Amino acid sequence: MTRVVVTIDGPAGAGKSSVAKLLARRLGYRLLDTGAIYRAVALTAQRTGVAWTDGAACGAIARELAITFDFVGDKNHVYLAGDDVTSAIRTPEISQGASQVSAHPEVRAGLLDLQRRLGMGGGVVVEGRDTGTVVFPAAEAKFFLTASEEQRAQRRVDELAAAGKPVDYDVTFREIRERDQRDATRDVAPMIPAEDAVIVDSSAQTLDQVVDSLAAQVLARAGRQ
Ligand code: DC
Repeated sequence: MTRVVVTIDGPAGAGKSSVAKLLARRLGYRLLDTGAIYRAVALTAQRTGVAWTDGAACGAIARELAITFDFVGDKNHVYLAGDDVTSAIRTPEISQGASQVSAHPEVRAGLLDLQRRLGMGGGVVVEGRDTGTVVFPAAEAKFFLTASEEQRAQRRVDELAAAGKPVDYDVTFREIRERDQRDATRDVAPMIPAEDAVIVDSSAQTLDQVVDSLAAQVLARAGRQ
């Protein structure tokens, strides 16, 4: 069966990472977390004293980003020039930073080739905001995963608590709303469903139900290639 490109876009906390990871495992596909790449740019900027508002300097960081991924168990480890930044890129501060740097055209352009190279050859589940619209417009299976704002905020709170970094629900709710607003209204590659994406609302479904449904749809499409 043809190994296709699957894209999963959508707002923060919709469950993209969990769904993408399980779907990739189910299909025997690779996983490409494009949000981790934007997070890595924000972290590098912070560590080198570059402001997240400086598009030119953040663009230069994006073009030279030495990022690698490695699966250990079911954890997707992220390395920057060999340094394990898996936890460092997951803080609420870096979430906002990633959203800010991702609005710069120089950053988006600087990361395009990298993302396409990492997804080359198919057999990959790609997750992000513009993976079905801009990065892989010809992807065979596109999904836009969403859920209610309240559920998305609660999920983020639970995730960070499980990682030993408890955060306040109200603060998280506001941060998620602010980030989605910025991601959806920026001029370049805003977060919008691709015309041919299937919209999936995960509010009333379990993780397994979502993964089952997506896997069936991907296999149906791959069978038709
Ligand atoms: O999926 P995430 O929360 O790890 O993404 C962090 C930020 O990166 C998100 O707020 C916007 C940006 N991003 C993007 O602009 N395009 C992508 N394909 C993925 C992420």
